[in-house]
Amino acid sequence: MTNRVAIYPGSFDPMTMGHLNIVHRSLEIFDRVIVGVLNHPDKKALFSPAERVDLMKRVFHDESRVEVESFEGLLVDYVKKQGAHTVIRGLRAVQDFEYEFQMTTMNRRLAPDVDTVFMMTAEEYFYIASRTVKEVASLGGDITGLVPDLIRDAIHAKLADQRNET
Ligand code: PNS
Repeated sequence: MTNRVAIYPGSFDPMTMGHLNIVHRSLEIFDRVIVGVLNHPDKKALFSPAERVDLMKRVFHDESRVEVESFEGLLVDYVKKQGAHTVIRGLRAVQDFEYEFQMTTMNRRLAPDVDTVFMMTAEEYFYIASRTVKEVASLGGDITGLVPDLIRDAIHAKLADQRNET
């Protein structure tokens, strides 16, 4: 029996339909996908890393081959700790390339046995980014279909909480 494991790392603040699509497609290639949410304090983030992990666990609750957890430190160390050798990243358009190229080259220098597999984002999700989803939601626009419904509801709840605090 094979056990091909891939790590899908990211900020996921919040997870979008583009991310969901990458995970589903990765499951066609790998036996298990571990979603690694970067645990890094960021004042501008909408959700804490723990909240993002919790939300994504709920999205994938009936998908036994997907695990969601947070990680700290170097990605390549986390990948090795998981006994994996492969990182998955989604590529939307040219604007993603330079950043991904730098990161992948740095990661390969740090750990030559860890490789990165890129997947082109499905065309219907090309324009979706966590940042724009947050902006549209905060300005009252409809984000249905851009993120899973439970994430949409969590975004609205979080924005309402923030408004009540100010
Ligand atoms: O969703 P993002 O913000 O594009 O994900 C970026 C992420 C989490 C993959 C990247 O920031 C990362 O791997 N951080 C861990 C620190 C690290 O390993 N840095 C060296 C690579 S340049």
